[in-house]
Amino acid sequence: MQVLGIETTCDETAAAVVRLRPGGGGDILADEVMSQIAAHAAYGGVVPEIAARAHVEIVDRLAARALSKAGLKAGDLDGIAAAAGPGLIGGVMVGLMTGKGLALATGKPFVAVNHLEAHALTARLAGALAFPYLLLLASGGHTQILAVKGVGDYERLGATMDDAIGEAFDKTAKLLGLAYPGGPAIERAALQGDASRFDLPRPLLGRPNADFSLSGLKTATRLAAEAAAPLSERDVADLSASFQAAIVDVIEDRMRVALQLFRERVGSAQALVIAGGVAANQAIRSTLARFAAQTGLKLIAPPQNLCTDNGAMIAWAGIERLRLGLADDLSAPARPRWPLDAKAAPALNGKA
Ligand code: KG4
Ligand code: ZN
Repeated sequence: MQVLGIETTCDETAAAVVRLRPGGGGDILADEVMSQIAAHAAYGGVVPEIAARAHVEIVDRLAARALSKAGLKAGDLDGIAAAAGPGLIGGVMVGLMTGKGLALATGKPFVAVNHLEAHALTARLAGALAFPYLLLLASGGHTQILAVKGVGDYERLGATMDDAIGEAFDKTAKLLGLAYPGGPAIERAALQGDASRFDLPRPLLGRPNADFSLSGLKTATRLAAEAAAPLSERDVADLSASFQAAIVDVIEDRMRVALQLFRERVGSAQALVIAGGVAANQAIRSTLARFAAQTGLKLIAPPQNLCTDNGAMIAWAGIERLRLGLADDLSAPARPRWPLDAKAAPALNGKA
């Protein structure tokens, strides 16, 4: 089975072809990503209108290039998958219509993929991994802890009540005068910094649910920065290190609670998986690796190009669904909000 995946929900336009490997997992035959970071950098964040236009200009060529790099024609595919949300609606519509158009032209099955489900299943593309597993999904738009019980079967154990973790990195970087995206910039600055210099809060530490709240930490960092202004390079490094250390402590604490909830509600976990752009952070990875070892779990962190937004994860989610006979018809809507766990309360920050 080989499927084309199209991703346009945020600021990456991506198209990839993935083939199901008989023993489990998939082979990525082509993986094309065009980042719009440069187009948004001057604004310190993603501008929806700019994003939608940039997707429209490139998505068809990117899909054609992915097919040609895979050595395939559209008619050789077994299906076409496109992210149908959640995300910025203009961009989502661009990718979704492209996917539907290809499906209509070729007569191949179509899958309208939930972008969050694609992140959640990526660890199974990278290698054989059985359900259920505990997942931390942390990107610029999303922060959730999920019990992944099967395809289409997710239980939200925790979510952010305000900022996503990546968003907190991005906003803090901006106030420190660092480049966008802020995560890598803060991580780099933190390497030279003293994490003990600023005593920043660890919001919700010790609470019995696995939710996050990061706005208080962001504000405390801003106040510390204002008190220390004008900021020297050393101040920026120390603030970055102190901020990152607080985030790392919060993540470890929330994962500890989430694992307990998982064991009570679901049973024993096959692994602890991290996904989303924030999973690239080495301080977060090493803390979670230690936490996983302490709790007898294997930590699975997909390679960085599969953690950030990409087309291969959409193609893989398409494969997972098509294998179960879960194709969609061409009336599938674009969904700016699309929670993975429909039973959970609406996201407290108004995002999916
Ligand atoms: O998954 P992603 O590429 O896009 C979505 O937001 O869906 O994630 C991008 C986010 C940005 O907020 C970026 O600052 C954050 O991931 N990020 C990081 C790191 N690399 C990327 N955050 C912390 N440390 C990093 N090394
Ligand atoms: Zn994403």
